[in-house]
Amino acid sequence: MSQLTIESILQEKRLFHPSAEFSQNAQIKSLKEYQQLYDKASADPEKFWAELAQQELHWFQKWDKILDWQPPFAKWFVNGKINISYNCLDRHLTTWRKNKAALIWEGEPGDSRTLTYAQLHREVCQFANVLKQLGVQKGDRVGIYMPMIPEAAIAMLACARIGAPHTVVFGGFSAEALRDRLIDGEAKVVITADGGYRKDAAVPLKEQVDKALAGGDVTSVENVLVVRRTGQEVQMEPGRDHWWHDLQQSVSADCPAEPMDSEDMLFILYTSGSTGKPKGVVHTTGGYNLYTHMTTKWIFDLQDTDVYWCTADVGWITGHSYIVYGPLSNGATTVMYEGAPRSSNPGCFWDVIEKYGVTVFYTAPTAIRAFIKMGEHLPKARNLSSLRLLGTVGEPINPEAWMWYYRVIGGDRCPIVDTWWQTETGGIMITPLPGAIPTKPGSATRPFPGILADIVDLEGNSVGDNAGGYLIVRHPWPGMMRTVYGDPDRFRRTYWEHIPPQDGKYVYFAGDGARRDKDGYFWVMGRVDDVINVSGHRLGTMEVESALVSHPAVAEAAIVSKPDEVKGEDIVAFVTLEGTYQPSEQLSKELKQHVVKEIGAIARPGEIRFTDALPKTRSGKIMRRLLRNLASGQEVSGDTSTLEDRGVLDKLREGA
Ligand code: WT7
Repeated sequence: MSQLTIESILQEKRLFHPSAEFSQNAQIKSLKEYQQLYDKASADPEKFWAELAQQELHWFQKWDKILDWQPPFAKWFVNGKINISYNCLDRHLTTWRKNKAALIWEGEPGDSRTLTYAQLHREVCQFANVLKQLGVQKGDRVGIYMPMIPEAAIAMLACARIGAPHTVVFGGFSAEALRDRLIDGEAKVVITADGGYRKDAAVPLKEQVDKALAGGDVTSVENVLVVRRTGQEVQMEPGRDHWWHDLQQSVSADCPAEPMDSEDMLFILYTSGSTGKPKGVVHTTGGYNLYTHMTTKWIFDLQDTDVYWCTADVGWITGHSYIVYGPLSNGATTVMYEGAPRSSNPGCFWDVIEKYGVTVFYTAPTAIRAFIKMGEHLPKARNLSSLRLLGTVGEPINPEAWMWYYRVIGGDRCPIVDTWWQTETGGIMITPLPGAIPTKPGSATRPFPGILADIVDLEGNSVGDNAGGYLIVRHPWPGMMRTVYGDPDRFRRTYWEHIPPQDGKYVYFAGDGARRDKDGYFWVMGRVDDVINVSGHRLGTMEVESALVSHPAVAEAAIVSKPDEVKGEDIVAFVTLEGTYQPSEQLSKELKQHVVKEIGAIARPGEIRFTDALPKTRSGKIMRRLLRNLASGQEVSGDTSTLEDRGVLDKLREGA
């Protein structure tokens, strides 16, 4: 990694204040209140979190120690006993919320289902008993590969209830990607559906599971549970595969939540790095419960009358923290939508908002850019007046998209929370608190109370106002990842060693570049490594490159990103071919399709460039920085002295 120099190209002057009415009713009502919370939390983070943990969550047994910090390994609420499914369900049943809508679900074809807290609790208990009956025990990992249907949330909560860590794999990932994750996570059971509806097609999920399990590489999986969603034909392997609804028939609805140790693993979620296989990010129970609870409450400003909708998929961390755990722990009504905007109904999101009277809406910049393209007439044709708060996540939002969101969707009255965080952080880290912090389009604004974020140079020294640097966090927080599953060393290397500890104090390295303006507002500029961000999701170069190289025609591949109007970044693949293969339009198509097969549609390269050779350093490292310049049509800039063969660059330029 070379020293970062970031030119600040944004000169954003606009400032948006929440209305007096919004602030008055908000959880956190003023900048002063935020500042007081922030100062209090910074002065003694442990005390701050412990008070909230005591006040906001149910513990079967209190902790003896708030934080045990053996850098880079943190334990929060040591020896505390807690169950997140209990906090999300059981404790609401003794209140008026028992019959409040917990989950409102809308299927893509227009079918729908609402589950009250009592109903959701019952389903979760039953399904937990199904898992137990199949021999799933505390500590066993369960793979979840599902469409966006209530059973996905039920499955997660049931796993949490019995202490079986789940590993949710995004339903858009291919059989190969699923297989790798099941192997790494050593899943004992896989929960899936026959299929799910997405963009007017029935996506076959069970078939992908069959492919992932064929060939015998996944030795840990004993059973597959299948929800009937689409009714499409599936092969059921006797003894291994079972219908969810069959097993649900014969179990009791009584299943007490297992008292878990605060540090017991809640889930593994895979995310991409720049090298090697995906990392299994490990989150544990107590700290994650507290962190998602507090961030949901203060950032989405939850009131009991809210209808809250986060459009993410449960296969990403956003779905874990802000569709399922955070909202339910708060006793909120959370909306789940199966579909996606599609040509037969490009305005479907606005239909859902109108139909359910959604008040808080959380989506991604890539979606907003797609809405802008589709045109204002779609949202304008619906009544969106129920909305009172908007949010974004996944990548930096360009100020003009922010302004469009504010004006067209928010009707100039809804604050926007631009929330910066990562799979690793468990929850939102830098964000406006909507009643308290005035917003600037394009800035995630200020750190959440208890988050000691900073921007530093490679030595770990804070940089001055408006200087670019590396985004770091100086103190552990309850929602932080605990390790990389099965690879603590990789955890240390990836997040804790890029910036040297100062006075023995370790800092968390997020891998993002950022600057802070004179008002203390953070402006996140994106990844500083080779990791790319397509449609708000991180993809490692390594996985996509390996997929390409696994095609017989490909000798070597390097992928980089170039700016894309809708997706944020698009993948450009530079490919050298094996001896007898010739570049062709046909081959280019085939390679794109091959990546879709290996990883999923999210990783499909927008462009394949055939070349005779790739630019490398003398030690053989591909210089993606140069390829990035070429891909986005810029002059190659920066140092090229480490390039082994300058001729390669000239050839690449000619080919462009
Ligand atoms: C990376 C994390 C957190 C859930 C979604 C993605 C980028 C995320 C923002 C934002 C600027 C953002 C960062 C981060 N990112 N939110 N509001 N402003 N950049 O999770 O796949 O773990 O990716 O997404 O680069 O490191 P993820």
